[in-house]
Amino acid sequence: MADNRPIGVFDSGLGGLTVVKELVKQLGNENIVYFGDTDRVPYGTKSNETIKKFARQDEAFLLSKDVKLIVAACGTVSSVAGDTADELPVPFIEVVSHACKAAVNATKNGKIGVIGTSATINSDEHRKQILSLSPESQVICQSCTLFVPLVESGWIDENDVVVYETVKKYLAPMIEAGVDTLILGCTHYPILSSAIKKVMGENVSLINAGTATAQAVKELLESQGMLSTNTQKGKISYFVSDITPSFSSIASLLLGQDVSENKVTQVDINSL
Ligand code: DGL
Repeated sequence: MADNRPIGVFDSGLGGLTVVKELVKQLGNENIVYFGDTDRVPYGTKSNETIKKFARQDEAFLLSKDVKLIVAACGTVSSVAGDTADELPVPFIEVVSHACKAAVNATKNGKIGVIGTSATINSDEHRKQILSLSPESQVICQSCTLFVPLVESGWIDENDVVVYETVKKYLAPMIEAGVDTLILGCTHYPILSSAIKKVMGENVSLINAGTATAQAVKELLESQGMLSTNTQKGKISYFVSDITPSFSSIASLLLGQDVSENKVTQVDINSL
């Protein structure tokens, strides 16, 4: 059995591309349809009701592209709108549970930090899941509200004083608590990983949810007989709700391929 339909991936903006990058590494022949809601980003400062409404529209768009599976490549949607998946006719993969498992496996001192958007941190979902896997763990959580606007504006250079000082200020509680493992609980944050590494030091493990999530996608497709039989390199189709210059430049940088503006299609997501 095989399923040659594309994998659907969505996020509020650029962040989900960090998951796409891992999917390409692990499932290079699969076609991917990516939707980034660049017009309505950030999600993480919105109410849970609004995030759920956005998630349903994003999922409806991907279903209109006949995807075989939907990945919510967004920590915020995964934390507060996972139940929108109950209405879907295709399998759904989120990013929180896989990151929590990876963190519990990685920590040596049991002190795990979690950074994410306000909505993600307020949901306390990471803490609940980590403690259910490992009740002895100490979980230190911090919302980093300015990280998403930094990334969406293309401010990602660790040598830039604004980027470095912003990251340092938000991560101070993690250093103070002595975490040895830090979950990047928002998929935008791996794009800032050089700055995060510079602040946290080489000995702290950074958990990028994309790696474990791509593994979960692979296992699901394998177990359901839904892998593609495509023998070529998979194609990625990019859709956004607003064509911003940073989307194309950061996507090209991150994925190591040309994602110029004429390869990105604009979608009227509010009409769905
Ligand atoms: N990448 C999204 C996440 O993982 C960012 C959310 C936002 O737009 O605030 O949470």
